[in-house]
Amino acid sequence: MAEPAVGRLVVVGVGLIGGSLALALKAAGACREVIGVARHEDTCQQALELGIADRAVTSLAEVLPVLEAGDVVFVAVPTLAVESVFRELRDHLPAGVTVTDGASVKGSVVEAAAKTWGGVPEFLVPGHPIAGSEQSGASAARDDLYIAHRVILTPLDGTSGEHFQRVERMWQAAGAEVLTMPVREHDEVLAATSHLPHVIAYGLVDTLAHDSENENIFRYAAGGFRDFTRIASSDPTMWRDIVLANRDAILSAIDLYTANLTALRSAIAAGDSDTLMGIFTRAKAARDHFTRMLAKKAYTETMQEQEVTFIARPGGSVSGKLRVPGDKSMSHRSIMLGSLAEGITEVEGFLEGEDALATLQAFRDMGVVIEGPDRGRVVIHGVGLHGLQVPPGPLYLGNSGTSMRLLAGLLAGQSFDVTLTGDESLSKRPMNRVANPLRDMGAKIDTGPEGRPPLKISGGHQLHGIDYRLPMASAQVKSCVLLAGLYAEGETSTTEPAPTRDHTERMLTGFGYEVQRDGARASLRGGGKLRGGRIDVPADISSATFFMVAAAIAPGSEVLLEHVGINPTRDGVINILRAMGADIELLNRREVGGEPVADIRVRHAPLTGIRIPEDQVPLAIDEFPAIFVAAACADGETVLTGAGELRVKESDRIQAMADGLQILGVQAEPTPDGIVIQGAGAGAAFGGGTVDSLGDHRIAMSFAVASLRARDTIRILNCANVATSFPGFVQLAQRAGLSLAEE
Ligand code: S3P
Repeated sequence: MAEPAVGRLVVVGVGLIGGSLALALKAAGACREVIGVARHEDTCQQALELGIADRAVTSLAEVLPVLEAGDVVFVAVPTLAVESVFRELRDHLPAGVTVTDGASVKGSVVEAAAKTWGGVPEFLVPGHPIAGSEQSGASAARDDLYIAHRVILTPLDGTSGEHFQRVERMWQAAGAEVLTMPVREHDEVLAATSHLPHVIAYGLVDTLAHDSENENIFRYAAGGFRDFTRIASSDPTMWRDIVLANRDAILSAIDLYTANLTALRSAIAAGDSDTLMGIFTRAKAARDHFTRMLAKKAYTETMQEQEVTFIARPGGSVSGKLRVPGDKSMSHRSIMLGSLAEGITEVEGFLEGEDALATLQAFRDMGVVIEGPDRGRVVIHGVGLHGLQVPPGPLYLGNSGTSMRLLAGLLAGQSFDVTLTGDESLSKRPMNRVANPLRDMGAKIDTGPEGRPPLKISGGHQLHGIDYRLPMASAQVKSCVLLAGLYAEGETSTTEPAPTRDHTERMLTGFGYEVQRDGARASLRGGGKLRGGRIDVPADISSATFFMVAAAIAPGSEVLLEHVGINPTRDGVINILRAMGADIELLNRREVGGEPVADIRVRHAPLTGIRIPEDQVPLAIDEFPAIFVAAACADGETVLTGAGELRVKESDRIQAMADGLQILGVQAEPTPDGIVIQGAGAGAAFGGGTVDSLGDHRIAMSFAVASLRARDTIRILNCANVATSFPGFVQLAQRAGLSLAEE
């Protein structure tokens, strides 16, 4: 058996915090013995009865002589009582014993140590478990209190590595995640996130409960008040100690809050609906964001192996009228331009997927009031090109390359510094393609190693226009440069090697900003204004593609995809599938908000392999994973070249698709800039098996569609990111006729 994390554990103060650590370590077999120390004999008795301690005594001096190196003393008494415990330890603590504590304020613990020892001794590791409940005392102790909770350790320069590691191992054995922080930072963070809410709760409940006109308050108390009363029933001694011990940081937090409350009062008095809407929306968004973050945390911490897996059963066909979610590219841009416009922008059809929501959250973090999304409707209260505010921290953009690259352009022209970060996949993607032209414009941008995220953008640099020739066909790079151009002196222009999606150019024009377009060149002059308005986001052709391919490959299928954007810079998939023999009709063609839209009817027809024309590659760039599935079902060989960009998407899509198709028994040979696929031919089917989508949404959905022509079940791993672009994919696929389930 492994060595226990600690030798003996002496718990001074067997209440909720101390008792729970003792129970957790005992349950994990992570200490040899627990000795409880409590002031009263009956608490000692209780600690023994509850199994918290193997021995319990009322005097610390009594146990100190038996301790030896490797043992730990955990001081779990109210904050202001820590000093008296330290005094008892001073003269009798054997060498090599570690001392740590659980007090909520660390500055006062360091002061108590200084008074006791004349400084912080090397064996003292100040700590603070961020866990607890309104209940207190030994009877509330539980062995799972710390599981998946954080413990902050605040070691000082003189803290020895050996003692620090012992305390770290101890908390990890109790199931906690250990972080370190400087003492001062800890106290400021806790003042804002824990101490201030408690002060407010005590103050509010005390105010209302003792207002003589409100004597029936508890009888009518609704949910909101009840939440405050829950916090206000925490242990008064403990909280008195905490606020006295962390006085300065708490006073600053109270001052900040008082100023905001006064502003709220004025807005209510003046009937200022915009300000109220702003405060309430930002607060709600912050809470929703927090909830999502917590859900993610729990997910990654405890459910690694329960990542979303798709189980796609073989065979079947698809049919019906389907409306897939809104266009991702346009949804991003609607938030960006709406935020920077003057006046209000109303968006319909907004994609409520994680990528577009990351953009939305970023602008909220920069002070923009955004209502919704509510069934695709978003209302943005634009702040003008110069109205963004410095965000409270780095902007986290999840999986979304479009958010990071387009925002880089917009933020290069601001007066404040900002850092852009993303998830594991985004953190591997190349960013010098945007950082370099922005630097040419005068921006100051630092990237991580090899030009990867995070991007650190320094504000306050005046940009100047450039004439930029794109080295690759990329709408993100083009858009980034043009958006930076809004803030640049003079003219900014881009020339692309092949046509790429032009939503930025179209939408800028829609917002009343003049953009000159001449073949491959687009240009604009900085210093203008955007005017808010209405945006109708059509369904995303990239999402529609999965059902187009599904209908094309599965005998007996016919689907009608409604209100799909068919912008000529996005319609490569229609051209390619038609060249392969697919039966695709565009019905009810119309123009909506400057973008062409149609209903797309697809019926099954036998497909033939083709050599894909290179000029179609940028026009179908996101659709290739699904097109490869069509190729695998076609008669003969399909050859793709000139598509090296596919290797730097959310995954290396050439390799990921080749690997997956080979597992299904399809001959698929990757090349440096494309792939060669030998189709199974009409009527033939390929095998099943387990394929890995590598967390790439489009790979996951493509293999789900492939199941229509498989003989056996296809299990697709790592599908959680389907939510980035296509929330509700599984349900819609089931409705259309796929036998698809999530595990
Ligand atoms: C996008 C451009 C394309 C595309 C991405 C969305 C956009 O990326 O793959 O999904 O909205 O501008 P590249 O510019 O890297 O080709």
